[in-house]
Order: sequence, then C-alpha cells, then structure tokens
Amino acid sequence: MIVTYAEIEGFRNLSGISFVPDTKYNIIVGANAQGKTNLLEAIWLLSGCKSFRGSKEKDQIRIGGDKMVSRIKFRNAVREQKIELSMTRSVNSQKTIMLNGVKQRGTRALFDVFKCIAFIPDDTELIKGSPEKRRSFIDMAASQLNPLFVVHLTKHSAVMAQRNSLLKDIMQGRCSPDTLQVWDKQAAHEGALISYMRNEYVRRLNGICSGLYSTISGGSETMELEYRSNVYKPEDFDKPCGSAAFEQYYQRLQDGRDYDIRTGTTHSGVNRDEISIRINGVSARDFGSQGQIKSAALVMKLAQAELYMERSKDAPVVFLDDVMGELDESRQRFVLSMIKDMQVFITTPNESALLPEIKGRLLRISGGRITEITDME
Ligand SMILES: Nc1ncnc2c1ncn2[C@@H]1O[C@H](COP(=O)(O)OP(=O)(O)OP(=O)(O)O)[C@@H](O)[C@H]1O
Ligand SMILES: [Mg+2]
Repeated sequence: MIVTYAEIEGFRNLSGISFVPDTKYNIIVGANAQGKTNLLEAIWLLSGCKSFRGSKEKDQIRIGGDKMVSRIKFRNAVREQKIELSMTRSVNSQKTIMLNGVKQRGTRALFDVFKCIAFIPDDTELIKGSPEKRRSFIDMAASQLNPLFVVHLTKHSAVMAQRNSLLKDIMQGRCSPDTLQVWDKQAAHEGALISYMRNEYVRRLNGICSGLYSTISGGSETMELEYRSNVYKPEDFDKPCGSAAFEQYYQRLQDGRDYDIRTGTTHSGVNRDEISIRINGVSARDFGSQGQIKSAALVMKLAQAELYMERSKDAPVVFLDDVMGELDESRQRFVLSMIKDMQVFITTPNESALLPEIKGRLLRISGGRITEITDME
C-alpha cells in the first residue's frame, strides 16, 4: 500500500499540510513539539484504528478551532482509493468518514481498507506494561488478519458489561443468581472462540518472533511467546473449538460465580488472559534489560507486519515515530531489511541520526506547517 497524497487541516497544531509522499522513505524532521507525531497520527487514524497516543477524540481538533480534516489517496496493487475523516466540535458533532466519496457508518469500515503499522517509543509497554496491553495488541493484530474476530470481541465485551452489572444487582439482592445463566452461556461461546483465536495468533507470532529475535541479537538470545489462557491448558488447544470447549469455559464461569457475585465483577475468562514473553527462558517483563525490552517490542511489531503481509500480499504502510535514532546501526539496518518493500514515514528531530541509506522525501515541520519539502540526494 502506498499513500500517494495527504492533506491535513486543523488536526491538533497542523495546518495547511498537503504533500505527495515518496513511494519509499518520507523523513519528517523538526524540533520537539512542532507536529511530527501529529502528522503520523492524522494519517494513522484513516486506518480505522484508535489513536496510538490513546488521546480523546475531541482533543484532536485544534484548540480554538472547530473542525479537523485528514484525507489521503492511496493505492494498492489493484486501484487508487480515497479516505477522508473530518470532525467538528459542535455539540452534536460527529465524525464523518468518506471512503471513495461514499459516507461510511463508522471507522470499522476502514479497518480492512487502509493498513498501517506504527512503531512508537511506547511500544515497550507491550513487554513492560500490564497484561491488558498485550491482550489488546494480540486482539488488534489478529483482527487485521480476520475481521470476524472483532465481531466476537465486541459481542463478548457487551455480554461482560451485562454480566458485571447483573453481578452487582445480585450482590445487592435485586435479582436472582439464576439470571446469570443466559449471559454465561453467551460469554462461554464468545470467550471460547476468542481464546482459540488468540492462541492461534500467538502461536504464529511466536514462530516469527523467535527467528527475528535470534537475528536481532546476533544469534545469541532466544525469545518465546506463549498464550496463557485463563480457562484452557495448552494441550486443550490441540482439539478444535467445539462444544467441549464451550462447556469447559462455561464451567469455569460457574466455578467462580460465588466469588464474582461477592465482588461484583468477573474474575475468569479471556479478560484475565496473559501472553507470556520470555527472553532466554525468563520473563522479559521481570528480567529484561532496556535493550532487550526494546528489541522484543520491535520484533513483535515486525512479526505483526510479516503475518499481515503473508495474508494479504499487500504491504502495510509503516510509521516509525522517533524510534530509528534510538537504535544502534545494526538494529536500524535490521529494521530496514524487514520493511524494505513498504512505504515508510519516519520522524526524527535530527536527520543525521538516521543511516545514510535512508534517503527520500524530506519534510521539515515547524509550528504545525511544512516549511520545506526536498528530495534527498
Ligand atoms: N488540540 C490541539 N490544538 C493545538 N495544538 C495541539 C493540540 N494537541 C496538541 N497540540 C500541540 O502539538 C504539539 C505537539 O506535536 P507533536 O506531538 O506532533 O510534536 P513532535 O514534533 O512529534 O514533537 P517531539 O519531537 O517532542 O515528539 C505541541 O505543541 C502541542 O501543544
Ligand atoms: Mg513526536
């Protein structure tokens, strides 16, 4: 996938941005707080994913302004398409999403259209952060391969919201525990499917990560990923996901029911899953050095890109926000070799921190505007 044109107005501090990106490297250079990450974020949102900054949507409109627009043209092997996202600040404001001139119902419509992968300094949270960070990475990445996964995740979280509110009602004597059964059946159904899908994705990701990590560490270290289901043992996944799996999940919910009622929340199931990440056989979260954690996070993202490429034969667009300058030369070269067929947007305060072979269109950003566009020699 290649972005062939980008235009951004009123998004955070950006204004009057319009440019034709290079098909390979786009290097966005500027001092701190000038709008480099904002530029990546504005294009990223057109993939239908939430902001990688985890910020509120309203904060994306310029302070004091009332409208933002981000639009791109991009092409894959087959054709050129257009996406436009706009948002206004008025009370009943809504996001408007247009795909090829046709208004869409929500960002979900973009999910399978424009694909990108962002590498950000915060990625180390994947290793260091709470299990929730790892679960949402796996869920997002697996959804890229199978959009049906999102349907199960959405259904499951709706069922969980109902179940948890019911647990509180039961705790306060407002209804009978029997009312849980219908929700538990549904939770078991969706939860079992999610567990099996997570297991499958982590298994595939592990296959790629172990090879990549070995390469990035010069063959001296190992990395393993393993899905730790809250319900199933690893060998349970040898059998297909059928009625026995649903029953097992349901039983787990039953076993925890009394405790759930006493505490008013659900303590078992996919919302308690963990993905274990080990380097040289020990937990990366507990024992990893800074460099190991950085490399492991990088490898997980690269593996995600590779799995996506395998499925779609269409390369995602890559965003490298302030990560290249942080890596030593051999790691930078490794990343470049992995993303060699992809269009890349790199931000850096200082282009001389990049390897000399990274040459392409250079965009200098200052105060939210492009002040210079040049093709590097
Ligand atoms: N809603 C908004 N309205 C106006 N300005 C905003 C808004 N949200 C963020 N900003 C401004 O955008 C700037 C930050 O932009 P950005 O994060 O893209 O910087 P950057 O160039 O990536 O910097 P760094 O090198 O430090 O990462 C800040 O000056 C911030 O005040
Ligand atoms: Mg930044």
